[in-house]
Amino acid sequence: MTEDNEEMVVTPWEVRGEIDYDKLIEQFGVQPMTPSITERIAKQAGFVHLQLRRGIYLSHRDVDWWLDEHNKGNRVGLYTGRGPSGHVHLGHLLPWFFCKYLQDAFDTELYFQMTDDEKFVFEDHLTLDQTIGYTYENALDVIACGLDQEKTHIFSDTEHIHHLYKIALRVSKRVTYSTAKAVFGFQDSDNIGMIWYPAMQAMTCFLQSEREGANIPCLIPAAIDQDPYWRMTRDIAEKMGYYKPAQIHAKFLPGLGKGGKMSSSMPETAIFTIDPPEIAEKKVMAAFTGGQATVREQKEKGGDPTACSVYAYYYFLFEEDDSKLVALENECRSGSLVCGDCKARLAKIISRFLVDFQVKREKAKDNLEEFLIN
Ligand code: TRP
Repeated sequence: MTEDNEEMVVTPWEVRGEIDYDKLIEQFGVQPMTPSITERIAKQAGFVHLQLRRGIYLSHRDVDWWLDEHNKGNRVGLYTGRGPSGHVHLGHLLPWFFCKYLQDAFDTELYFQMTDDEKFVFEDHLTLDQTIGYTYENALDVIACGLDQEKTHIFSDTEHIHHLYKIALRVSKRVTYSTAKAVFGFQDSDNIGMIWYPAMQAMTCFLQSEREGANIPCLIPAAIDQDPYWRMTRDIAEKMGYYKPAQIHAKFLPGLGKGGKMSSSMPETAIFTIDPPEIAEKKVMAAFTGGQATVREQKEKGGDPTACSVYAYYYFLFEEDDSKLVALENECRSGSLVCGDCKARLAKIISRFLVDFQVKREKAKDNLEEFLIN
């Protein structure tokens, strides 16, 4: 099979191939996003977030219900997480920025799970010391996204287990091995840590309710590959006396290479938040574009933004202004903008973003404790 039509695989542990989002919505049995949901969120927030305007949230489960609960004056909550297997790249930041938007708009608590246990049992090459180390590093990135210190509760599965274990046990008792195998495709050769882990990821859906002694509707912004966990959780939630968690699913940020999502396993095509700005600029300058082989051809035939990783960065993150984005697209298609110039512009934008983000990340070291669950 060639790289172009490699079979699509989307599981919580593996994402590869050309992603067909319509097919995913069908396969996962989730609801496509609707203009009315976008409108309702935007109305509460006072503006339409770039990620909503550009269809980066493609599908959901029960967001309308979560919004109804909020409308009724009931408290609602948010949950997301991160598997600390390495440094954070721009793709990871997308849902965290969105969490900030939702947190501000709906005035919610956010429970943020760091799954150092998951990454230890799933990744052969990682030691516990390493995943715990990345938990600390990654938490700085989470804080740098501007989340509310009073309302954001970051926790590590290993460090804060005493807050989590009882709920996880209650989840685990409700899920049979046969269900876990059907949902996650476990094999006999998998270690038993992997088989226990879904109880930990599910547990957080109920954490706020448990801590506050009230049934609080939980919404999870996450990339769509995490959906199997919530499918499992939704099956047992009501039996445990809680609402089913709602979800809103993001698309994957593409890498700077040809096709595929941004991935830590291909560091040359991923921009890490700790990359020195000049290294990030070099990565952008080496990015795969939708341009022609030569400048002359480009001027004659124009480029194809839909196949361009550089355009994707403007689209997903770095060109807030819709009319400027359209102008960029037109200049590309007409051939009046050549790839070198377009990349150089993006490289500068990303480099400025990193300088600013790294200052915030550094400052986060001083108030990390304030963000941790206690
Ligand atoms: N399993 C996720 C990962 O590998 C981490 C995670 C835990 C998560 N809980 C979550 C992600 C909730 C999104 C939402 O990255």
